[in-house]
Amino acid sequence: MTALLEVQDLRVTIGSTAAVRGTSLAVDKGETHCLVGESGCGKSISALSIMGLLPKGSVRETRALRFAGEEIGGHGEREMEHLRGNRMAMIFQEPMTSLNPAYTVGSQMTEVLRRHRPVTRAAAVDRAAELLARVGITAPGLRLGQFPHQLSGGLRQRVMIAMALMCDPELLIADEPTTALDVTVQAQILRLLAELQKDLGLGILLITHDLGIVARVADRVSVMYAGEVVESAPTAELFAAPEHPYTRGLLTCVPVPGKVKRDEPLGSIPGVVPRMQPGFTGCAFRDRCPEVTAACSGSFPRRTIGNDHQFLCTLEPGWVGSAAA
Ligand SMILES: Nc1ncnc2c1ncn2[C@@H]1O[C@H](COP(=O)(O)OP(=O)(O)OP(=O)(O)O)[C@@H](O)[C@H]1O
Ligand SMILES: [Mg+2]
Repeated sequence: MTALLEVQDLRVTIGSTAAVRGTSLAVDKGETHCLVGESGCGKSISALSIMGLLPKGSVRETRALRFAGEEIGGHGEREMEHLRGNRMAMIFQEPMTSLNPAYTVGSQMTEVLRRHRPVTRAAAVDRAAELLARVGITAPGLRLGQFPHQLSGGLRQRVMIAMALMCDPELLIADEPTTALDVTVQAQILRLLAELQKDLGLGILLITHDLGIVARVADRVSVMYAGEVVESAPTAELFAAPEHPYTRGLLTCVPVPGKVKRDEPLGSIPGVVPRMQPGFTGCAFRDRCPEVTAACSGSFPRRTIGNDHQFLCTLEPGWVGSAAA
């Protein structure tokens, strides 16, 4: 089967920072692929580079960047504009990234549709109202006439999702779409995305640092560290048998109900994600890794377990280390 989205060996350099260093991932139709990792590891830059929305001064290289089987890595701005908001859409942690404070919800939503489809204004308004209702907004007619600042955070997030769906996209990239929301609204939004996915067959690339969310919604997980995917596996397998020392570290940081107070930061792996320079060799996690050996400064192969679990480490699959004791 052709993947809906296929990224091979994506590299992004911003000034002297190697923000993404050889990331590969695929999203199938109807699948939720979660991208996890600590702050600064390159999740957002990976997403933005797929959408063709990288910050100025970034340099992107890929071996392949395919959408619905078509290579889009060489697409210019006009061709990307044709795809964006239309066949692939993105939602952000902060809704005001995609909502313009100066226009009503209705005019922004209808504009997206009319940019890509030959529909009348009335038909576009109907579609906007229908989608607002679909994302659980009551009195959609009223909301269409309001400005973003008149809505609560949760409502704005829903409006942003509805707007992303105006053209019936095949792929939705969601970058921490619920981080800024309280837990109840967060659960509603995630449920909504899951429903929409079932109804519309959407492929979703969901960026989050919340492993609880991953466990609930992901079909597949890719763990990023310092610009690389260091492990990728079907969700159940990743949680049951993580291989990369970084993944194992992340999983031991998952809070245990009752033992961790609310709003307490997650327990974490000592140290921070390093800012990578181009030309770095060896494993980027080695300074923080409890299993580090001399081999970690050299190059090593990507290891494969079965046909869909990979990790990038000098250790053999199934290794038992000091951290496991
Ligand atoms: N506009 C920019 N200019 C320069 N460097 C940037 C820019 N945006 C991101 N970077 C750098 O690229 C690297 C990857 O950043 P990215 O935003 O993708 O991380 P992230 O995984 O999304 O983190 P977070 O969880 O905090 O959102 C970091 O080293 C970051 O400092
Ligand atoms: Mg980010």
